[in-house]
Amino acid sequence: MIFLLFLCSYLPVFVTSVEYYCDTDRFPVVTDFVPEDCDNSARFYYRENVVNDCFPACVQATSKSCYRYYTSGSNDYTRALWKPTCLPDETWAPKQCKGEAANGRCFCVDSEGNRIFGDAFSLDADDMTCACSRYRAALEASGDHVFVSLHCDSMGNYDPLQCDVNSEQCWCVEPKTGDLTSAVLPMNLMTKLPCYNETTVGSQYLRQCESEVYAQTMITDEFNAHGTERVNFETVLCQYDGSYGPYKISSGILYCVWKDGSSIGAYQVEVSSTIGSVNCNCACDTKIYQLAGLLFSLSCRSNGNYASLQMDGNLYYCVDSDGFATTESSDDDVCPEV
Ligand SMILES: *[C@@H]1O[C@H](CO)[C@@H](O)[C@H](O)[C@H]1NC(C)=O
Repeated sequence: MIFLLFLCSYLPVFVTSVEYYCDTDRFPVVTDFVPEDCDNSARFYYRENVVNDCFPACVQATSKSCYRYYTSGSNDYTRALWKPTCLPDETWAPKQCKGEAANGRCFCVDSEGNRIFGDAFSLDADDMTCACSRYRAALEASGDHVFVSLHCDSMGNYDPLQCDVNSEQCWCVEPKTGDLTSAVLPMNLMTKLPCYNETTVGSQYLRQCESEVYAQTMITDEFNAHGTERVNFETVLCQYDGSYGPYKISSGILYCVWKDGSSIGAYQVEVSSTIGSVNCNCACDTKIYQLAGLLFSLSCRSNGNYASLQMDGNLYYCVDSDGFATTESSDDDVCPEV
């Protein structure tokens, strides 16, 4: 019976935190280094903070290190307009903020800096942890669950109410950490949990998008169990908060979609081998700014990604995939390859 495979649930796992000590072989204790002292071309970066008794130093970044961003070429530490927040173990911090405190944005990323679900304006991001988004990304990457029903809120924190539709259990968690705060009840008793809110949840744990995808997943499983390999549906993606997006694919066309499943503007592209690079970040931001009553003045590509080259009056500047400047404004109308 295939359902037996789904029984293990993803109740919170308590991970003991790793401590970092100053390794004086790797971090020589020299206090008067400046960024220019570090050989960027050899991937040495300037680590400016005192971390666990380690003083500022030139440190060589390991192959997947967050600090590689600080070294060499166009990401030269001394010229970068933005630097990621890196953790002492050289992974990317879950929450990365860009732009000014007054009008900037924060985004959730995985340990290698790839954007995952969750964003907020910097002004609203004090309590943003991205812990839920990190956990959900890890669950999906593990492939242990046919259908992941962990719910995050829009800034990547945990929804207070969590249900695992595979094991049919529900429980309450602390939003910033995901720590268990209630008994674990069978799903049909969900409404008895203290964190259940009829207004926000309704009678069904799964949101509309998820119900659609869940039904597809179950039907596909059924077909696979009977030897049918391919089942063609419209491809619907759901976000970690259960809403629609960032895109859907129908009849060979990819459309950027908003949380309610409606297409955003005319942002669309024929599905081809380049689909992996479509993120709809710019299309989504047009909607986010509109709903926040803010002027959105950047240009998008027709596929919904940010155009790398942007105009500032008569000058040009380049932006990253989140729409934040990577170069100062100038006459130069060519952006560096990312
Ligand atoms: C349920 O959620 C709504 C909307 O967020 C909120 O206004 C209300 O206070 C909540 N109710 C309870 C009982 O927490």
